[in-house]
Amino acid sequence: MKAIEFDNVSFCYEEDAAFAIRNLNFSVGEGEFVAVLGHNGSGKSTLARLSNGLLEPDEGTISVFSRPITSKNLYEVRKDVGVVFQNPDNQTVATIVEDDVAFGAENIGLAREEIGRRIDFALRAVGMEEYRTATVARLSGGQKQRVAIAGVLALSPRVLILDESTAMLDPRGRREIVDVVTRLNKEKGITVLLITHFMEEALLADRAIVMNRGEIVMQGTPREIFARKEDLLTYNLSLPRISVICEKLRAGGLDIQDTLDVETLAKEIAACVS
Ligand SMILES: Nc1ncnc2c1ncn2[C@@H]1O[C@H](COP(=O)(O)OP(=O)(O)O)[C@@H](O)[C@H]1O
Ligand SMILES: [Mg+2]
Repeated sequence: MKAIEFDNVSFCYEEDAAFAIRNLNFSVGEGEFVAVLGHNGSGKSTLARLSNGLLEPDEGTISVFSRPITSKNLYEVRKDVGVVFQNPDNQTVATIVEDDVAFGAENIGLAREEIGRRIDFALRAVGMEEYRTATVARLSGGQKQRVAIAGVLALSPRVLILDESTAMLDPRGRREIVDVVTRLNKEKGITVLLITHFMEEALLADRAIVMNRGEIVMQGTPREIFARKEDLLTYNLSLPRISVICEKLRAGGLDIQDTLDVETLAKEIAACVS
């Protein structure tokens, strides 16, 4: 089944402005992990906001698990499709971790015991169970984002969208989030849409799409996408670090093949210098 499907969707923020999303046809299968790449202003956040009904398309239809989104089912759609945004400090609402995680679940009127179970599940899922009664303000950026993810998980979403949720984190925080999300996808079958400008993160996805001016301009496995270096540069995307290193080694005279795998690169270098 398709988790999210865009059928000829266009969206403009203001009359006479350029389309933020233009004639977009796109779908994400249930259980799939899709990375969304694209430079600033290419329409990634608009795609995220359209996917859970925060924005309404000007043209076309968006369906979530085969139900077209309408003004009447926004509530169900938002329960199914959870979005985690960029800034960890804008997404917490309570002082104590467990209250923060419970906030959304309380707002949909769940019973007390059910909320308790969901807090347990969500905090465990993001590896923050030991911080249940901690003060949110004292957590690191990565921990705050994990709490934000837990708050979304407490609503039992079937789809999790991360809109540059690692952008403000240090490398360790980024890894924490990517690990959690990969695990939720593999172990719990949650469909993941990971919007990121860190190319390394996209490598973990089953499929990657590249957006430019509101359109999808490249699509394939992350490896297929990263092999098209000229195209990536055309769309103002950087190459993964390891690709840059391969290029520099070649420029330095070593006979190195392109690879995205650290072990393979290490073997190649060893072969060259031995
Ligand atoms: N709230 C807004 N009001 C008006 N224009 C917007 C708004 N948000 C985004 N845009 C415009 O829509 C286009 C797509 O933006 P966005 O979806 O935020 O891209 P991305 O997330 O890839 O950086 C850009 O041209 C941007 O300037
Ligand atoms: Mg954005």
